[in-house]
Amino acid sequence: MKRTELPAAGMDPDKVAHAMDAMRADDAPWYGPRRFIGGSYYGGDEVQRVADRASQDYQHYNALYAGKVFPSLVRYEREVVDILLSLLHAPQTASGCVTSGGTESLLLAVKTARDWAAAERSATRLPATTPEIVVSHAAHPGFDKAAHLLGMRSIRVPENREYRADVGAMAQAITSNTVMLAASAPSYPYGVTDPIEELAELARTYELWLHVDACHGGFVLPFARKLGQPVPVFDFAVPGVTSISVDVHKLGYANKGVSVLLLRDEALSGFQEYRFTNWPAGAYRTAAVSGSRSAGGLASAWAVMQFLGEAGYCEIVKNIIGTRDKLVAGIGRIADLQVRGKPDAYLVAFGSAGYDSHAVADGMEDRDWVMNRLRDPPSLHLFLDRSHSESIDLFLADLQQVMDDVRSGRRRARPADAVYAV
Ligand SMILES: Cc1ncc(COP(=O)(O)O)c(C=O)c1O
Repeated sequence: MKRTELPAAGMDPDKVAHAMDAMRADDAPWYGPRRFIGGSYYGGDEVQRVADRASQDYQHYNALYAGKVFPSLVRYEREVVDILLSLLHAPQTASGCVTSGGTESLLLAVKTARDWAAAERSATRLPATTPEIVVSHAAHPGFDKAAHLLGMRSIRVPENREYRADVGAMAQAITSNTVMLAASAPSYPYGVTDPIEELAELARTYELWLHVDACHGGFVLPFARKLGQPVPVFDFAVPGVTSISVDVHKLGYANKGVSVLLLRDEALSGFQEYRFTNWPAGAYRTAAVSGSRSAGGLASAWAVMQFLGEAGYCEIVKNIIGTRDKLVAGIGRIADLQVRGKPDAYLVAFGSAGYDSHAVADGMEDRDWVMNRLRDPPSLHLFLDRSHSESIDLFLADLQQVMDDVRSGRRRARPADAVYAV
């Protein structure tokens, strides 16, 4: 195959734009009322404008040099972190930093826990030979990726019948090598929050680090609680929660490249940082993994948080939770379908016990609905956003008809596996 080469002569900017239009001809739209796969998050046209403007203004600022030449970036980061610490009931001792996304936040949490355990755990316990993390089956693969990259081992434990972490099974998986328990608020597959109080008690008993992955819930659950919704406890108000990750580029509506890792105690950040001094160019000290990176995402995070404020986030959460409740109630009215667990945020998984759930997904896709699937148990998986309040009735009407087709045998599943990301 011929390798692509740099064009000999440069191209006119209009031609470049035209070529790019052609390149993206097959891409799906990044949001829309018939699309339920998340990945990019739509907070409304105005939110987008605010985020894009801030991103553009800071696109060429290198966040690696924040502490040296761009004091505004230090302020944006401190304020974004502070706002989240307040929302999540962090004590005065807490601190945090901005990372490039949920995966990096999880990686840093696992690394910090590993180094903390090696240095600080009570003298009565030998250091772990291969440090282990105990992770509920529904938690994000970012935990396993972190363990893999850090020379650790992740032990996955099946969740309970409510699709939440099974505390008894997690307790049984703890060994002398365990340094961390991982919890989700909520998990991606089922959208349900793990029993954080019970896991925190387990963590305290065994002197373990408890990380709560609130990459999805961090910007939803606090506002849902303010709206009077029944919301499980999941944050620093629970003694024993050591760290929390929150993705601002998900339901905080920042542009891509912004998550936050929060630590209960600033003293723990020494286990997170990397320092190198033996270099002609001078001191090198970073809290996160990447070196040079655009400050565009960080600027958009700060801008959107100022633009929306508490009232703006509450309004969005109210809208989407209303859609979720309509969806859950509607699915409950369709015979042979059931929602998996009790979703706390915007992620809803559902399927059939007696019929092939992937045949239902095929039928919905043939009617131009775009969604994900779960493997275990076979399910349809929806990520709701603001644009779905206008389409959910139609979705439920189509779902009823597709289910009738599946039940009568008119529709059978095409061979397909669930894919999260490749
Ligand atoms: C619960 C959860 N945690 C972490 C992540 C990783 O986030 P990112 O894709 O920003 O790295 C995701 C991604 O969807 C997630 O669903």
